[in-house]
Amino acid sequence: MQFLDEYQDIVARAVDKYLFKNKPVELYDPMNYIISHGGKRLRPIMVLMANDMFDGDMKKAIKPALAIEFFHNFTLIHDDIMDEAPLRRNKPTIHTLHGLNVGILSGDALMIKAYKFFEDLEPELFKACVRVFTHTGLLLCEGQQYDINFETMDDVTFNDYIRMITYKTGVLSASSFEIGALIAGADFKDAKAIFNFGKNLGIAFQIMDDYLDVFGNQEQFGKKHAGDIYENKKTVLYLLAREHGTEEEVKELDFWYSKKTDNVDKIYSVEKIFRRAKVDEKTLHLIQKYNDLAQGYLNKIDVPDEKKKPFIELANYLLSRES
Ligand code: IPE
Ligand code: IPE
Ligand code: MG
Ligand code: MG
Ligand code: MG
Repeated sequence: MQFLDEYQDIVARAVDKYLFKNKPVELYDPMNYIISHGGKRLRPIMVLMANDMFDGDMKKAIKPALAIEFFHNFTLIHDDIMDEAPLRRNKPTIHTLHGLNVGILSGDALMIKAYKFFEDLEPELFKACVRVFTHTGLLLCEGQQYDINFETMDDVTFNDYIRMITYKTGVLSASSFEIGALIAGADFKDAKAIFNFGKNLGIAFQIMDDYLDVFGNQEQFGKKHAGDIYENKKTVLYLLAREHGTEEEVKELDFWYSKKTDNVDKIYSVEKIFRRAKVDEKTLHLIQKYNDLAQGYLNKIDVPDEKKKPFIELANYLLSRES
């Protein structure tokens, strides 16, 4: 998609400019490793898109856009420790290469560096952006904690799940759009609408992430196949299987999710239940539902339709992605 490529180039150039040259290299090299090895860079693009929607100045938005991307990468380093994930973006994860201590510390340092990217904003705007950012960071931690809690619970409801993914994923894309809008000087009502667009799009995005964990192609997705099943994650696939499976299947699911094991029989059996209960189709419907909710908020924004087109295209791209 051409407009996405253009934004991606802008972000890539900015990332290159801010690569770390400091010492000790044992701290900064892993930070460079994760921020320079790609990823879709969606969240900084969201900042820039919202800024453009309200006719903001790109030069003013680029460092806050990087703040969000650096922060996102910090969450990925720590998330991979928590999820015991060996692979991200088709490369070994930082803690796998350098151990837990480096994973913890380089993640912390990236998060602190992220805050520094807001320093050039004028005081009022600085305060507004940092407030949104800090609130988001805290909700993200709450979402991650729910995610961990759910691993050992067998009575997670659909509402519990939606709250968990709203916090761990939805709010960061929401605030990426909001921060872009604030920097452009959008009014309160429009900033809230773009926030809610991002929140629902982020929810749909996380549901897609859960789907790709099982139904995606590992090569394209870049993460270990079925990592969520190994970790007993109470994803939407699991919840739908529990709701629509037979009594026998639910019993079998409970059996497999009561232990953490690398046994491939677990993956094979759970995936078979997922397929029989047709959770793939149901999940894709759910993604569409949250995408529709997002579009509803986009409609409320007071700008010409022409300006909304890239947002519709972005949503279509995100929800048909394979990586
Ligand atoms: C991964 O986010 C974490 C989730 C919220 C699912 P992305 O899929 O945006 O990761 P990268 O940055 O493109 O690798
Ligand atoms: C993503 O959840 C949430 C954050 C990184 C904050 P996942 O654990 O599903 O993300 P992936 O699949 O490892 O990217
Ligand atoms: Mg993970
Ligand atoms: Mg996780
Ligand atoms: Mg995932």
